Amino acid sequence: MAECAPIPDELTDALTAAGHVVVLTGAGVSAESGVPTFRDAQTGLWAKHRPEDLATPQAFARDPALVTRWYDERRVTLASLAPNDGHRALVDLQRWMTSRDRQFTLLTQNVDRLHHAAGSEGVVELHGTLWVWRCESCGEEQEERGGPFDSHPLACECGGLRRPGVVWFGEMLPPSALEAAERAIQSCDVFISIGTSAVVYPAAGFAQAAKARGARVAEFNREPTPITDLVDWSVQGLSATTLPELVRRLQADS
Ligand code: OAD
Repeated sequence: MAECAPIPDELTDALTAAGHVVVLTGAGVSAESGVPTFRDAQTGLWAKHRPEDLATPQAFARDPALVTRWYDERRVTLASLAPNDGHRALVDLQRWMTSRDRQFTLLTQNVDRLHHAAGSEGVVELHGTLWVWRCESCGEEQEERGGPFDSHPLACECGGLRRPGVVWFGEMLPPSALEAAERAIQSCDVFISIGTSAVVYPAAGFAQAAKARGARVAEFNREPTPITDLVDWSVQGLSATTLPELVRRLQADS
């Protein structure tokens, strides 16, 4: 078991008293499942590719085959990966809250659906998902769980091109997801930011918004981020270690 940063008693007390807990996750929560993060120097996706070359509508218009190939490779890689103990701890946290008739909302920036695979319910996908591909012409969406696509780009029966169902730079978040996130932030007592560098808006602003409303805020991340100075509690470490420890403490204390 890796060394775990201490879980503050005040945090477990606040969670025990909370009527509504909101969790926001980023790529860090999937890192120990083998999913590359975006900004980690060595392994991050953006260390190898420039986002503007791959993750924008302009990039897809310019070279749909290249962009489709890159996302198809990520999708096929994901198919062989499984949730880790951090994902499972968030399922336990949701069950711990709902068993006490309390509200729990999980917001994720991740497109891998590992939270769903672990058993989380009602997950709000702020940046869409890599498993669903949408036709740019007729809007038809299809889940693609198989092996690599036979051809790149992916053609729709209507003759249009199908793109990954993820949010690209410069695009709006799905309105229903954004509304759900804003509603949750307005009513939460504790907000926990996990495994995100807190640099991509609007998600990067959620901790501040929750704090401004009077919620207590915790951050579980491997290293400090731009929100570390504003949170009430910062637990540094790997989420597959720190999150199970948090749940163990809550279950022991209750
Ligand atoms: P990043 O790669 O920017 O940040 C991942 C964060 O997780 C970093 O702060 C790491 O230190 C931390 N981390 C890495 N491994 C960890 C671990 N095992 N346990 C805990 N923390 C760990 O990923 P995101 O913040 O999710 O947007 O990136 C936000 C958005 O930027 C993504 O959703 C994507 C990208 O552009 C879109 O695709 C629209």
